[in-house]
Amino acid sequence: MNNDPQWKVTVADAAVGAEEAAAVTAVLESRWLSVGAVTRAFEEEFAERLGAADAVAVSSGTAALHLAALALGIGAGDEVITPSLNFVASAEVCALHGARPVFADVRSEQDPVIDPEEVRRLLTGRTRAVFAMHYAGYPADLAALRALCDEHGVALIEDAAHAPLVSVGGAMAGTVGDIGCFSFFATKNLTTGEGGMVVARDPGLLGRIRSMRSHFLTSTTMERMRTGGISYDVPAIGLNYRPTEISSAIGRVQLRRLTADRERRRALSTLYRQRLRGVGIPFAGRTGDSAHHLATVILPPGADREEVRAALRAAGVQTSVHYPPTHQFSYYRDHHHSTARPLPVTESIAPRLLTLPLHARMSDADAGLVADTLGGVLHRPAKA
Ligand SMILES: Cc1ncc(COP(=O)(O)O)c(C=O)c1O
Repeated sequence: MNNDPQWKVTVADAAVGAEEAAAVTAVLESRWLSVGAVTRAFEEEFAERLGAADAVAVSSGTAALHLAALALGIGAGDEVITPSLNFVASAEVCALHGARPVFADVRSEQDPVIDPEEVRRLLTGRTRAVFAMHYAGYPADLAALRALCDEHGVALIEDAAHAPLVSVGGAMAGTVGDIGCFSFFATKNLTTGEGGMVVARDPGLLGRIRSMRSHFLTSTTMERMRTGGISYDVPAIGLNYRPTEISSAIGRVQLRRLTADRERRRALSTLYRQRLRGVGIPFAGRTGDSAHHLATVILPPGADREEVRAALRAAGVQTSVHYPPTHQFSYYRDHHHSTARPLPVTESIAPRLLTLPLHARMSDADAGLVADTLGGVLHRPAKA
């Protein structure tokens, strides 16, 4: 709830307003709420902005990742390599089907994206896919990962949940991998409340994903209603990961607003970097494009994160943590990761990660309050 009076500045905020309301009203007035023409338009517009041939809208980013794993046939006996510093979704959609998530470290404190050298060391004859996650909106090293995956005949799946419309090496994030997955969750750059999108380089693979999104039925409800037909076949296994026309209508408006919102995020990121000199802010040396999805800082060793959070909370500033490392969650520790193989960078930064507010509705004064409060608590003399 972003109008909760205890917060002056929230970590994220949906930039939605009258245009989204009008688009939703138009859908309600059409009286068709599941997948239909609005969703198809959203897919086409998203694909066009990405420079992709087509796209499939789904009900969440997790659904996108699950369909990617299913379409590639990832299952028992397979291994997939994913950064531990990630949301749990990539690991869970593979583990669910009996595959083993193998957790990779990130490159460095300054560049906390999956380390291609670590990926090279972790590849085995059982590896089926590598997940590249564009942490905080900054692309992973897609050139190195693409080359590595091609060399070893392994699929590259981009978890681009943090990076819609981010250009990287002349392409858009999501289109370099074999499959690209996006999330439109409530806190994301482009939000539909819940939702996601999938793109794939192979049109056949994307076609399978489209069919799997709706039980692999050979015709949709809408097609049958239009033609009067009643029969369909089910030639393979699918699920229901359909979005609604309501979410797609919101998505189309959000897509049009994304570039302007991105500029606001970029300005706020710059302001944080100027006002928080001496505080560890990752990606300082990056020159390429970013979605500026998260304002993550890495507190100095020895800083008490809970004390810092309490000071920010007292000033009305909400904070979060992205992410508790997946390999340290009890399920993954018990079933998939031996503590005998440490992930030194991830384990060193994990207790020091802190996500500050960053969203298009924030003012410079909001960012100033966050920076001044954080700067104040970090530079306070240590307790005797
Ligand atoms: C990196 C990453 N991957 C996957 C997901 C899952 O997306 P969703 O919440 O839409 O299922 C999220 C967001 O929640 C995410 O941040």
